[in-house]
Amino acid sequence: MATNLEYKKLNSEELTEEQFKNILEVEQSDGDDCYSEETLRNIWFERTTNDNFVCIANNKIVGCINFNPLSQRRNGSIYMINLMILPEYRKNGIATNLIKEACEYYLGKGCKKVMSLNVEKDNYKAINLYKKVGFEIREPVCEADEDDEQYVMDCHLEEIINTIRSLY
Ligand SMILES: CC(C)(COP(=O)(O)OP(=O)(O)OC[C@H]1O[C@@H](n2cnc3c(N)ncnc32)[C@H](O)[C@@H]1OP(=O)(O)O)[C@@H](O)C(=O)NCCC(=O)NCCS
Repeated sequence: MATNLEYKKLNSEELTEEQFKNILEVEQSDGDDCYSEETLRNIWFERTTNDNFVCIANNKIVGCINFNPLSQRRNGSIYMINLMILPEYRKNGIATNLIKEACEYYLGKGCKKVMSLNVEKDNYKAINLYKKVGFEIREPVCEADEDDEQYVMDCHLEEIINTIRSLY
């Protein structure tokens, strides 16, 4: 386990093929139930308005997350997708820090939106994480959120950052 972890915003224009290969390894590290390479290429290269953050250890990407800041979900929220941490790096606060990094970025730009996400109802690890940093389960407010197998969660950016800061 590396002790030197770096958190970085990595947008599509600066993303190299080598870094994308590394991201693929991370994304595919949780078994078959992940996006295809084509979908991931779309998320990482084509959706240029997404904001993407990675965690780097020893020059290697070990965790990543994407946000759509222009989402119409929950009447206009920053929509989180695709949080993934390499199994051997989990339970070290990396997911928490990636969310913190993103909140600081948006708050630094004066953004006061809600951050929202969908999570499988049986993904207790992720649900624990989201609750720990302040997210709450909400009723769906639009058709896109209506899915019997997923929860919709959201939280204001300021509340997330205050919750995370209070953890340390
Ligand atoms: C869910 C996931 C992103 C958590 O990443 P992580 O870096 O290990 O998370 P953190 O170390 O920041 O953990 C923060 C909190 O999350 C919860 N959590 C994380 N792993 C957990 C586990 N194995 N069991 C129970 N709760 C867990 C805990 O509340 C934890 O706080 P604690 O350490 O005080 O118990 C990671 O397990 C993962 O990549 N899973 C597969 C992909 C996935 O499910 N992504 C979410 C899609 S919605």
